[in-house]
Amino acid sequence: MTKVITYGTFDLLHYGHIRLLERAKALGDYLIVGVTADDYDKSRGKINVKQPLIERVEAVRGTGLADEIIIEEYEGQKIDDVRRYGVDIFTVGSDWVGKFDYLKEYCQVVYLDRTEGISSSKLRTESRKIALGMTGDAPFLGKVKKEAEFVNGMEVTGLCAENRDRLPEPLGEIPYITSDYGRLLDRVDAVYIHSHPSDHYEQVKEALCRGKHVLCESPAALSRKQCVELFSLAKEKGLILMEALKTAYATAYSRLLLLVKTGKIGRLAAVDATCTSLEDLSGVGEEQLSSRWNSFCEWGPTAMLPIFQLLGTDYREKRIVSRFADRKKTYDTFTKVDLLYRDAVASLKVGKGVKSEGELVISGTRGYVYVPAPWWKTDYFEIRYENPAENKRCFYQLDGEGIRYELVAFVRSIERGRPNTYIERPVSEAIAGMMEDFYAGKDVREI
Ligand code: CTP
Repeated sequence: MTKVITYGTFDLLHYGHIRLLERAKALGDYLIVGVTADDYDKSRGKINVKQPLIERVEAVRGTGLADEIIIEEYEGQKIDDVRRYGVDIFTVGSDWVGKFDYLKEYCQVVYLDRTEGISSSKLRTESRKIALGMTGDAPFLGKVKKEAEFVNGMEVTGLCAENRDRLPEPLGEIPYITSDYGRLLDRVDAVYIHSHPSDHYEQVKEALCRGKHVLCESPAALSRKQCVELFSLAKEKGLILMEALKTAYATAYSRLLLLVKTGKIGRLAAVDATCTSLEDLSGVGEEQLSSRWNSFCEWGPTAMLPIFQLLGTDYREKRIVSRFADRKKTYDTFTKVDLLYRDAVASLKVGKGVKSEGELVISGTRGYVYVPAPWWKTDYFEIRYENPAENKRCFYQLDGEGIRYELVAFVRSIERGRPNTYIERPVSEAIAGMMEDFYAGKDVREI
């Protein structure tokens, strides 16, 4: 009996796939089809797959061509499979010519002609793309524009910028550029807001009132009341409002949360998060300072994320200690926040004028989680125990700092008509509440 094996994602199964499977089957007597696991696809940069694994497996089964279906979960698995199943022929489409020649050591390798004119990517982009407008800080938006190119179903079509002559490279190519936010909104389906935090509330509200979906850099509002109002408005209008906090979308970060919540390190006692980035403020006047993101807005939401997601938002006491660069006390160069919960504590340190080790430590009764700097770009963490032999090291691929996953989640939310966010609403509200107290000087001490 000649055994044949082939692999693929088989997303939105199409006739190109079916032709490939038919010819693969005809090469022998028994066909094994390897369907890629969601995580494996993500780790190899295939982030736009529409159907979950179970649906893709069912679709392949439905063709009646596979004698056996297996799941492909890790790089290098093909060698294991060929040996384990006693495979005679490995086959795949001609888009992979040469790529799997290393398998010739174990079996025959056949590249079959790819069917022209059809692909899963093509099917995924056939429906009308969401036209995304962007407004705010140009260098960061440049990153978002580049990341948006990896995301199916969305296209950056407009930009609101004050100074259109000095735009960084990828932004200059955007078809419609204006300095009028209202005009931008007229032309798009959704908007990405990365303007100064003091403008967020008005801009988010205006966009929602005009029926546009919003992805807004955190903090989405500077008071709890405004935050609640914006999310209620979005719900009432059937629109998606998502807070942009890329760390939440990093696979390693979300896996870390799950492991801690399942009790891997016992009962939580403390969460300590530090985020800093030194910025040269020499020669920057007080007026200019007020138009820049201070330490608390720039880093506070990121540092608050693991604290609120793990310990909840119901803290009993807090103390905020800041060092300011201006007389109005709006630009903090450094802030430390201590939170007291019923049975745990948390602290965060953020700074743009102070440098520290940007790590995250989550302490529990059985062990602790250590995420090395820069923890907010999490791709790796360790679960450490008293006995180092029990320690676990976990790595998950992170592409584009998490921005592209965040954009995929935004597009999915719009397509499905319900939020697919990784940031719970109470967390957004607690972040806004913390901002409110900071600006009101509530529980704030100065150093
Ligand atoms: N295939 C083919 N002809 C096509 C599309 C795919 O022969 N028009 C083959 C591929 O070469 C591969 C198998 O079908 O052997 C599964 O491919 P997969 O990557 O799942 O499908 P694509 O349509 O290529 O997906 P994408 O656009 O996401 O890359």
